[in-house]
Amino acid sequence: MALKNRSADLVIVANRLPVDRVEEADGSKSWRTSPGGLVTALEPVMRANDGAWIGWPGGTETGMKPFTSDGLSLVPESLSAEEIEEHYEGFSNGTLWPLYHDLVAKPEFHREWWDSYVRVNQRFADRAARIAAEGATVWVQDYQMQLVPQMLREARPDLKIGFYLHIPFPPGELFQQLPWRREILQGLLGADLIGFQLPGAAQNFVRLVRQRVGHKTHRDLVYLPDGRTVKAAAFPISIDTEGFEELAASEPVAQRAKEIREALGNPRTIFLGIDRLDYTKGIYARLRAFSELVRDEHLSVRDSVFVQVATPSRERVEQYRRLRDDIDRLVGRINGDLGEIGRPVISYLHSSYPREEMAALYRAADVMVVTPFRDGMNLVAKEYVACRLEEDGALVLSEFAGAADELRQAWLVNPYDINGMKAALREAHNAEPKELNRRMRAMRKTVKERNVTRWADSFLAELAATRPDHGKTVRPVGDGADEGDES
Ligand code: G6P
Repeated sequence: MALKNRSADLVIVANRLPVDRVEEADGSKSWRTSPGGLVTALEPVMRANDGAWIGWPGGTETGMKPFTSDGLSLVPESLSAEEIEEHYEGFSNGTLWPLYHDLVAKPEFHREWWDSYVRVNQRFADRAARIAAEGATVWVQDYQMQLVPQMLREARPDLKIGFYLHIPFPPGELFQQLPWRREILQGLLGADLIGFQLPGAAQNFVRLVRQRVGHKTHRDLVYLPDGRTVKAAAFPISIDTEGFEELAASEPVAQRAKEIREALGNPRTIFLGIDRLDYTKGIYARLRAFSELVRDEHLSVRDSVFVQVATPSRERVEQYRRLRDDIDRLVGRINGDLGEIGRPVISYLHSSYPREEMAALYRAADVMVVTPFRDGMNLVAKEYVACRLEEDGALVLSEFAGAADELRQAWLVNPYDINGMKAALREAHNAEPKELNRRMRAMRKTVKERNVTRWADSFLAELAATRPDHGKTVRPVGDGADEGDES
């Protein structure tokens, strides 16, 4: 597909394209839409608005042309080997990621990494400036792209620009360590609307802008010297709830859930953790807590097992490598010390699975354990709730996951408090069916009401309202497609 210059009415700019490269049986390569919630939410609105998605396709292949996949216009922006090292693994995941997650690991500050981050952001912004139609909406995603809004505004002041941060935004005391703090704040201020997961993050941002950049602010608004107003507000992200429910209700998934239970020896209780293998997720502490319950005979390997799925992630970054070794060693030691023949304490899977298998795991699990030290939202917690069609099952959830703001009926825990986690795991394990049902029913109501489509629609509606007199408005999906027409 040839993507003409200045033709897209909605442009998504993200570090990654929403597709994965897959190899067919005959050895040929093709693209498959990745199962993430973001693309599910944006697909309909992109179709209705001649949308295009700019992102890195992964790998180092260069010179790739724009293409369509499942009807979506995708615009690959390649990264060189050096940019992968400095922009992606370096500044994005070695500096910003730990800094924005409460310094769970120590961030590294390197000037070459920053330079590469600036260059890559500029290239993505240039590309967006080329393909966005007059008065179009551009929605920039996440921490890898924080300079794009301002770069884009300079090139194309006619655009409506939104930015959404999927991860936490740290308190000023931590953010101030960043040698390029002012540049990042100014980069973000190029947007008309900046979305965060939680109200506290939006407040952190506005306070920092007042203190560090010196702009006037009032509540969630920043007033710029050029007369522009920027709004910073919370839009908690969610999942494709209906899609997960349908999947969980399907016969193959129900069947697979049964098989999983059988393969584990039909234990009374299956505990489950599903995470990217990341040091923010608290996997190590969680497995230790569980193993102590087995060691102290509060749980027995005859009737309980912990299934931990750890999806490989950022494997060339040193801290991730070390984490993998630490978890491998811990699991080996726990199973060696406490397991019995055919009865491991922890069934550990270092692999990524399709959505169907995840849904089957959610259906099979009695206690879902989500205990990050810090997490922007955590969609796994919401997916588990969506898949519990029988309104049973327990969720043990970290207070420091964004999801804890909405899923108040979970067993909330402090992931730094091992004894507290042990107590919550025991309570969840021993809870009466009535109690489980009461909690799960309430959480399911929340997750059904607030799905990812509502999230995207509310952000885009707010963005349209932020600059109502300016260019085009993104056509909403479903009802009222005429009210957002071009002017
Ligand atoms: C988090 C980030 C995303 C990122 C994803 C996977 O959810 O918010 O921006 O894409 O992790 O990480 P990766 O480094 O593989 O893109």
